[in-house]
Amino acid sequence: MNWLITGGCGFVGSNLADALLAKGDDVVILDNLSRVGSRDNLDWLRSRHGDEWRFQESDVRDSESVSALIKETKPYALAHLAGQVAMTTSLQNPRLDFEINVLGSVNILEAVRLYSPSTIVLYSSTNKVYGDLDWVRYKELETRYIAPDYPGGFNETTPLSFHSPYGCSKGSADQYMLDYARMFGLQTVVFRHSSMYGGRQFATYDQGWIGWFCQKAIEAKQAQKRCLPMPRFTIYGNGKQVRDVLHKADIVGLYTTAVASIEQCAGEALNIGGGMKNSLSLLELFTLLDGILDIKLVYDNLPPRESDQKVFVASINKVIKTLKWRPKVSYHSGINIMLEWLETIQ
Ligand SMILES: NC(=O)c1ccc[n+]([C@@H]2O[C@H](COP(=O)([O-])OP(=O)(O)OC[C@H]3O[C@@H](n4cnc5c(N)ncnc54)[C@H](O)[C@@H]3O)[C@@H](O)[C@H]2O)c1
Repeated sequence: MNWLITGGCGFVGSNLADALLAKGDDVVILDNLSRVGSRDNLDWLRSRHGDEWRFQESDVRDSESVSALIKETKPYALAHLAGQVAMTTSLQNPRLDFEINVLGSVNILEAVRLYSPSTIVLYSSTNKVYGDLDWVRYKELETRYIAPDYPGGFNETTPLSFHSPYGCSKGSADQYMLDYARMFGLQTVVFRHSSMYGGRQFATYDQGWIGWFCQKAIEAKQAQKRCLPMPRFTIYGNGKQVRDVLHKADIVGLYTTAVASIEQCAGEALNIGGGMKNSLSLLELFTLLDGILDIKLVYDNLPPRESDQKVFVASINKVIKTLKWRPKVSYHSGINIMLEWLETIQ
């Protein structure tokens, strides 16, 4: 089976590429290497798989090179993961965010429509398409907010509400993907992802919160070993905001399962996350990290972040029913594995 992965040197893309190459699939990656860590991921893939695969350094905004590559390779499956991924960057440069996330996605869709209409296109959207959910009733408990009217999480019938340029650009691409299935019969699938984490994720303060705080915890452990004061970091809000988290091993399984069961999921949007069992607040994550590493994290609180959801936990009933896929890695074991990986790159 031949795959094209845009953004294949990012966190999700490099893990997906690695798993596909390990099982003998053909892989072509298109990436502009703009993300911190992308070059390391490229080197990592080369070190593991030599030149059994192809890398093209291109930008999804460049419709000519996107079209030429799709015309030439006619991939069986295309995972469109390249994107501008940070809310903060979208506020600083909304045009850049639009061009990468909307124009880049339309470039992919148009090339598939014109040159390879049987290609399966998997798109990594986000739970941010549901906005800040400020109309939901919340209760504040000791370590987390809860949304008592949504005990099983938020499903795909939750009203779309695009907040922030990032929400608008990811949401537009999400809708274009679904519309190209409707109007042109393309086999597109939209995954509305909650937070994802795992090895090869080079987290930053504004993207990849599990990875970022695991990194802070490793730094705290190192300071403790050297008898230095605990390094301080900042968090937005009171730390009771809740997300469901999904480990990379489960993401790889999802993408391959969707391709194998495309008749069940073409033209569908699916909420993807670890679900209620794998939901965590920041405060709960800190307690977990303190326990695992025998440290005491020290942080300062900033005002809540613009458009931040108090609670987003994906209801994953639709994907379980449609694809018979469900997360297998608990957050507890996934975070232990993440910490082990972070220690190897210190
Ligand atoms: N990681 C998460 O928790 C999360 C949550 C929701 C949605 N998503 C979405 O999933 C996708 C993959 O996420 P990730 O965590 O692997 O992101 P990532 O930032 O690690 O990877 C994105 C890759 O895209 C590349 N890229 C960026 N702009 C490009 C461009 N213009 N042309 C070509 N390549 C470009 C980057 O160099 C990088 O290698 C993203 O689209 C993101 O919006 C991620």
